[in-house]
Amino acid sequence: MAGPHITVVDDASDLDRRAAALIASTIRSRPDASIVAATGSSPIGAYRLLARHARTGLDVGHVRVFQLDEYLGVGSGDDRSLFEWMMRDLVSPLGISRDRVVRLDASGHDPARACREYDGAVCAAGGFDLAILGLGLNGHLGFNEPPSDPTSATRVVRLSRESSESNRPYWGGRAVPDRAMTAGLSSLLAARRVIVVVSGASKRDILARTLREPPTPWVPASFLQQHADAHIVVDRAAWSERPRSD
Ligand code: GLP
Repeated sequence: MAGPHITVVDDASDLDRRAAALIASTIRSRPDASIVAATGSSPIGAYRLLARHARTGLDVGHVRVFQLDEYLGVGSGDDRSLFEWMMRDLVSPLGISRDRVVRLDASGHDPARACREYDGAVCAAGGFDLAILGLGLNGHLGFNEPPSDPTSATRVVRLSRESSESNRPYWGGRAVPDRAMTAGLSSLLAARRVIVVVSGASKRDILARTLREPPTPWVPASFLQQHADAHIVVDRAAWSERPRSD
């Protein structure tokens, strides 16, 4: 297996441009794509450029957007919710209507049921056509914390210390919830195409482990080595070896 296609870029604007171009070309070839989309800082610039593509002719009216992860107990009206973040930075700027968005509802009394319903919606859509992801400092995808089995379903997880720490800036001094809900590694790895945006020196070690270690639940992103159409767009600060391609 060839492994992920790596694109190493010089800076943030290049990162955004390359990632947005990849997302746009995926939508062009599949206008009704089901897309699961990360929040976090890494893909935000690409989303901004994607909105520009949408204003200048890219038809996004038929895509469906699935929420990737959410803090447990945080409702959709809460400005800290990842759902609100996704709406603000991706769905609204693209002009995608709310009825084409599948929420991962972590606010209710029966989170296990919400997870099953979410996986049911993914299944009814025929799986994800595209997963747009960031890379956690501990190798997580979404909130699939280590160890995460590649067959794991959408579920409630306990956040690791690294994840709580790295999410702290988004919580403005308030305590980060200790549990979250995440789309399962199983459906993410089954996405027909995966794009991971990786930026900054803090990601260098975990990216190297992701690409070099034999796939292991202890670095959930390492299972991308076995994916047939995974693309990693990475800036030079996060890259520690010569690019295999492009
Ligand atoms: C967060 C989120 C992920 C995100 C990742 C990287 O904790 N759960 O969905 O992709 O970690 O975030 P960032 O891009 O801000 O580094």
